[in-house]
Amino acid sequence: MTTCRSDSYVYSFTTLVGSICIFIFLLKLLIALRKFFLREGFDLGKRYGTGTWALITAPTSATGNGFAVELAKQGFNIILLGRDIEKLHKMRDLLILRHNTKVRTLVMDFRGASDISFFAEVLRQAEDLDVSIIVHAVGMAALSKKFHLQSAERNRQCLIVNMFAPVLLSHHLIPRLQLRYHKSAIINISGENAHQPIPGMAISSGAKSFIRQFSVAASYEYEDKIDIMSVQPLAVKKAKLNDSTPESVFVIESCEFAKSCLKQLGHERSTSGHWIHQLQSWAYSLIPEELKLRFWFKVLLPQHLRASSSGISDKSKPSNGSSSIDKNADLSQKLK
Ligand SMILES: NC(=O)c1ccc[n+]([C@@H]2O[C@H](COP(=O)([O-])OP(=O)(O)OC[C@H]3O[C@@H](n4cnc5c(N)ncnc54)[C@H](OP(=O)(O)O)[C@@H]3O)[C@@H](O)[C@H]2O)c1
Repeated sequence: MTTCRSDSYVYSFTTLVGSICIFIFLLKLLIALRKFFLREGFDLGKRYGTGTWALITAPTSATGNGFAVELAKQGFNIILLGRDIEKLHKMRDLLILRHNTKVRTLVMDFRGASDISFFAEVLRQAEDLDVSIIVHAVGMAALSKKFHLQSAERNRQCLIVNMFAPVLLSHHLIPRLQLRYHKSAIINISGENAHQPIPGMAISSGAKSFIRQFSVAASYEYEDKIDIMSVQPLAVKKAKLNDSTPESVFVIESCEFAKSCLKQLGHERSTSGHWIHQLQSWAYSLIPEELKLRFWFKVLLPQHLRASSSGISDKSKPSNGSSSIDKNADLSQKLK
């Protein structure tokens, strides 16, 4: 008799827990559906000022490029802020030709961003422009089986580019943004590794997590005047991927990705950007962390390190780090 009653308690308890889990799951699904499919994005021209300027860092990257094109399409003038003047000019010409927008190019290497006066000097060249949106896409990945095998200088650069740059760029521009009549926006591009650390990319995982936390906290501090949003993409298609690379539904085309992010601007503080990435992120979050860490470290990392051995075989030797940044870019993207 007692056993029967305790069985029935266990049964009721498991039914209750099961129902709560299903309810939470359905609620999350509904919220995600609303976020990506049902909710209208803001009219960005009205919200941030028609014909004002959007400043894009790393506009030559897949992610940055998509934002530059989408914002130009939506009537914004564009400031391209990067380190390669030839690439910037090529992009400027394309934007002017295709979207009849005004474009200004600013050249800077973000490895200098630890210097307090760094941004002030470069941004002086844009002082006459009404900057309303900032998309900070610069990122530098450092891939190594153990992080200390990278030179200390390269690790330092990785921290400067990924962490100092977004903070100090915002620091210099926020006083201007706060004086504007319209609202303004800052989009900081992070990565899925902000949620799920990747062994072999320990420093970038930490940095991406920093960018997300910083952006979300700051979004609350400035929400009356500035929409700050952190984006954690998985794979965004780069123009430079060669044709033999197999297409995957999980690799989102850069303009489609930017369009999806911009639809969420002003609504969200943090997002994966695209519904496919949100779904992937959610699915990954269900896997125990220990399993994911092991899988990355034991299976994926050795494969990628082998594949790129020529590019990263000498990570243990001191170097200034600059030459290997580009070689690692494609590989790192696969791991992000
Ligand atoms: N694409 C993805 O699948 C993906 C996934 C997750 C997160 N993300 C994030 O999205 C952002 C863009 O990544 P991506 O993969 O699209 O591009 P990427 O190929 O990694 O390119 C990096 C970009 O950053 C610029 N850059 C790097 N170091 C710089 C420096 N010291 N000074 C100035 N510019 C510098 C590069 O300029 P140059 O053209 O001059 O080299 C390039 O435009 C990064 O923050 C990345 O972490 C991307």
